[in-house]
Amino acid sequence: MDGLVSIDFEQPAPRAAGGACSTRHAWARVPPEPSRAERARLKERIRELLVQQQAALMAHYYVHPDLQDLAEETGGLVADSLEMARFGRDHPARTLVVAGVRFMGETAKILSPGKRVLMPDLDATCSLDLGCPAEEFAAFCDQHPDRTVLVYANTSAAVKARADWMVTSGCALDVVRALTAQGRKILWAPDRHLGDYIRRETGADLLSWDGACIVHDEFKALELELLKEEHPGARVLVHPESPPDVIALADAVGSTAAILSAAARMDAREFIVATDTGLLHKLRTLNPDKTFIAAPTAGNGATCKSCAHCPWMAMNDLAGIVRALETGANEVHVDAAVGERARVPIARMLDFTAALKAGGTAPGITAGIGAA
Ligand code: 13P
Ligand code: SF4
Repeated sequence: MDGLVSIDFEQPAPRAAGGACSTRHAWARVPPEPSRAERARLKERIRELLVQQQAALMAHYYVHPDLQDLAEETGGLVADSLEMARFGRDHPARTLVVAGVRFMGETAKILSPGKRVLMPDLDATCSLDLGCPAEEFAAFCDQHPDRTVLVYANTSAAVKARADWMVTSGCALDVVRALTAQGRKILWAPDRHLGDYIRRETGADLLSWDGACIVHDEFKALELELLKEEHPGARVLVHPESPPDVIALADAVGSTAAILSAAARMDAREFIVATDTGLLHKLRTLNPDKTFIAAPTAGNGATCKSCAHCPWMAMNDLAGIVRALETGANEVHVDAAVGERARVPIARMLDFTAALKAGGTAPGITAGIGAA
């Protein structure tokens, strides 16, 4: 099939066997770029369909720039995964079109079971989600009943249904600090680099699953140091799914939204960015006077190089949105009982972050939540 990309990703072996990772296989289907005339036609059609169907388009910062711009132009949203969850829940639309990856569509559906949630391609997944199968994860939780179960947004609905809390990289440190202040021990899944980062920053007693993002795991510290030498005035912005030696070189570490605000706030003219290159579109649009350089993904002497662009985010395209809206294809369904249980950790995160934003005390961290 055209545009099919094969992908290796890491999946944990049973922890009892020592936690070594075996490489598994996945695939993505990257759509062809439409011609300029076709792009214009597809965009116009999406505008019409969104109005006709009282639908809102939400796009993640990693999807194609056309989709990001269209989401904003049509009154939808381009954002990080935290704000996508909040926007989808609060928007009065009857239909939400989610341009991102599967867990983002599922989160939207879980928070708004009465809304129709469509995606351009339901096979757009995530190596973190693939690397944390619900049954293996449940067995891991069962081995550690004394720990509060905290999962990353990048997981299936079934994994979230086993958790006490869900977090995104936009709020993970705040939630873990609050839990740690209550003396909680944490079980974390699935991203090992984000888990290590949270542990280092908060001092939490945190036991981590062993997953990784196939995009961020590729950034290379030595080559980043060399690039910094070539650009001595550049500041380094890093997503915390990156390896620890890359994070150690950062001037700012955070979610996609946090990287955007750091770039706007810092007075440097040049930035090296260690996250999916999809974010460069927004960084450049919002900061036309600044230069953004993608962080290196190949080691010295490498014969191949990662493109630092998520193959599953790349499955989202204009034609897929038209198809979904015209035919109702690619509707996201989440089992009602699983969704109801998975809503608990997501709602906790949204309540907690809303209270923090409002300057109040964080709710939801009450005794006895652990292993709910
Ligand atoms: P954000 O929560 O920063 O948007 O990240 C989501 C993601 O998939 C990162 O790879
Ligand atoms: Fe998952 Fe990484 Fe793609 Fe984000 S960039 S969706 S973490 S594979």
